[in-house]
Amino acid sequence: MIEIIVKNSKLITLPRIDDGIDGSISVAENFKHIPFAVKRVYYIYNLLNQKAIRGKHAHKKLEQALFCINGSCEIGLDDGTLHQDITLDTPNTGIYLGVELWHTMKNFSDNCILLVLASDVYKKDDYIRDYDEFKKYIDLRRRRRLRGGN
Ligand code: TYD
Repeated sequence: MIEIIVKNSKLITLPRIDDGIDGSISVAENFKHIPFAVKRVYYIYNLLNQKAIRGKHAHKKLEQALFCINGSCEIGLDDGTLHQDITLDTPNTGIYLGVELWHTMKNFSDNCILLVLASDVYKKDDYIRDYDEFKKYIDLRRRRRLRGGN
């Protein structure tokens, strides 16, 4: 099993109920399997360009959980110090993507469907889309935390 070493992230394994040739069910409940209350669901699909690199941003407050429910893809995680690439290819194994994590989605299989559960509605201002700005933001946050602020 892969180990996640970057900050603010972890693997999530959802229960999997197998009915043999009649299929499987996986379930995600707020605070039980997903460490936040889900307010929004979106999914990424129709990846005709397998060289697509999506994401390339970090969030200030938004928490998300990513599941590749069909096919496979790779999630690049960067907390400003450590970087890690995680392959998602099992529908019931996902990634918790906490705050202040630069992330990319890449190496999509053509049948990939990436399901994302999010802790809030879409807010443009929550995005940091420039890597240098991200580094400055997390350094500022780190200094504030050291001074005892939030
Ligand atoms: P973005 O979050 O940048 O996608 P990705 O991280 O997969 O590359 O969003 C791409 C576009 O879709 C952007 O114009 C904003 C829009 N969008 C919404 O309107 N609502 C949403 O909930 C999401 C996730 C994106």
